[in-house]
Amino acid sequence: MGKALVDQLVLSGENLVVGISRSGMEEKDNFLPIILDLGNTELLISKIDKIFSEGDFQRIVLINNAGWIGEIAPLGKLDPAGIGQIHTINLIAPSILMNEFVHRYKDVKAEKLVINISSGAAQKAIDGWSGYCSSKAALNQLSLVAEEESRLHKWGIKYYALSPGIVDTGMQHDIRSSAPENFSRRDVFRSYKSEGELSTPEEVALQVLYLIENQVDFQEVLQDVRNF
Ligand SMILES: NC(=O)c1ccc[n+]([C@@H]2O[C@H](COP(=O)([O-])OP(=O)(O)OC[C@H]3O[C@@H](n4cnc5c(N)ncnc54)[C@H](OP(=O)(O)O)[C@@H]3O)[C@@H](O)[C@H]2O)c1
Repeated sequence: MGKALVDQLVLSGENLVVGISRSGMEEKDNFLPIILDLGNTELLISKIDKIFSEGDFQRIVLINNAGWIGEIAPLGKLDPAGIGQIHTINLIAPSILMNEFVHRYKDVKAEKLVINISSGAAQKAIDGWSGYCSSKAALNQLSLVAEEESRLHKWGIKYYALSPGIVDTGMQHDIRSSAPENFSRRDVFRSYKSEGELSTPEEVALQVLYLIENQVDFQEVLQDVRNF
């Protein structure tokens, strides 16, 4: 989904797009790729100046899209190192990026928006996904608190935690490849693929762009593309 978002956003030469991933993408005139493991908090903090640009922008948008499903298995079988890692990628990295966003831009006279890509799993108890469900639930709550702080301090920053639906990406491939004894719903997710029920990353990228352009129609922090 991150790549589809970048592909859409760079189409307008008026946008300056900065994209973080571990594998990187080709640099363009208006696209700056930053190769960074968001699971490495010290490295993220050391590169923060490179991530946030200064300039006379009309609109500044932070999209926290990177995420990890984690090790798919019940508690009792998990590698403890992975437990730390999923919360670092899905919650701590977005928190650090949001903190910096507010610090830098709260007094800037531009339209300011943060979209945290969440999941329906934030509001469901799905076996084998303890780290994913709990980190996305915390991301929702982080978004709600950030919105409340922005309202209270009149910073003019709008926040969304957006569920993208079920999207045909590497994450879904990992879910379908999980061991059935570690995840009771594995075959349900296999059927989503075989029945053609997944949306494409390109479709979701367009829905994110729609949200950016039509914020007045979306007042609540918690949003789901299936209601668009
Ligand atoms: N796919 C779905 O059905 C679905 C449903 C609900 C919510 N979501 C959410 O949608 C978002 C995008 O998911 P996706 O389906 O596109 O997942 P994906 O196919 O696994 O892609 C994950 C993306 O995050 C980046 N990433 C992962 N770990 C990273 C790290 N440690 N440091 C930097 N970048 C990292 C990856 O780039 P590199 O590998 O290059 O680092 C990749 O761009 C996630 O937040 C996910 O939780 C997805």
